[in-house]
Amino acid sequence: MQIAPSLLSCDFSKFGAEIERMDKAGADMMHLDVMDAHFVPNLTFGAPIIKKLRKYSDKPFDVHLMISEPLRYIDDFCDAGADIISFHTESDSDIEETISKIESRNVKPALAIKPNTPAEVVFPYLDRLYMVLVMTVEPGFGGQSFMADMMSKVEAIKAEIKKRNLDVLIQVDGGIAKDTIKTASDAGVDICVAGTAVFKPEDAKQAIDELKALCE
Ligand code: DX5
Ligand code: ZN
Repeated sequence: MQIAPSLLSCDFSKFGAEIERMDKAGADMMHLDVMDAHFVPNLTFGAPIIKKLRKYSDKPFDVHLMISEPLRYIDDFCDAGADIISFHTESDSDIEETISKIESRNVKPALAIKPNTPAEVVFPYLDRLYMVLVMTVEPGFGGQSFMADMMSKVEAIKAEIKKRNLDVLIQVDGGIAKDTIKTASDAGVDICVAGTAVFKPEDAKQAIDELKALCE
């Protein structure tokens, strides 16, 4: 299981040091939650901040766009150093066009779905995606409870990926902790985003190691 710490739970007054801390703790990638106070009822940070943070780790930057018009800002996030860009099927941007834009910048495209969006919505795009992000909470805030019923969507997407012989990763985001990660792992999840579960304990390395061990 890959673990992607969600920096939404970090101490923003030392953002760079928090990324270094997660790098040393064994994070597989850095999950950066971009919110526009429109697509979701919360506001975080944008491309200029991500650009400044880029130098604090060589690990992939996994940018999760919770914004209404992702297409308009793809270039900015690519310029900032994103390696993976997830955007929501529920956003206002054209899905094909947004994937094409991300591909044109040699960045890995990913589609994200909110809890009320059926798994089948991503099927037409699967052959072009690096990853599908299945939200296991309503996007907007850290520290919410894991929605185990989303695992049927993970299983449906996994089955479709297998059936078509594709190589697409599945990520879940929201409520991942020691008591929920095995459920995600059993359903076929490849990457777990974790905010509270890795930032709250003193020892982030131990927290990440424990989460990974629970999947074995
Ligand atoms: C929610 C964000 C998540 C969130 C996860 O909208 O996309 O990345 O920070 O936080 P936890 O792991 O605390 O649920
Ligand atoms: Zn996220």
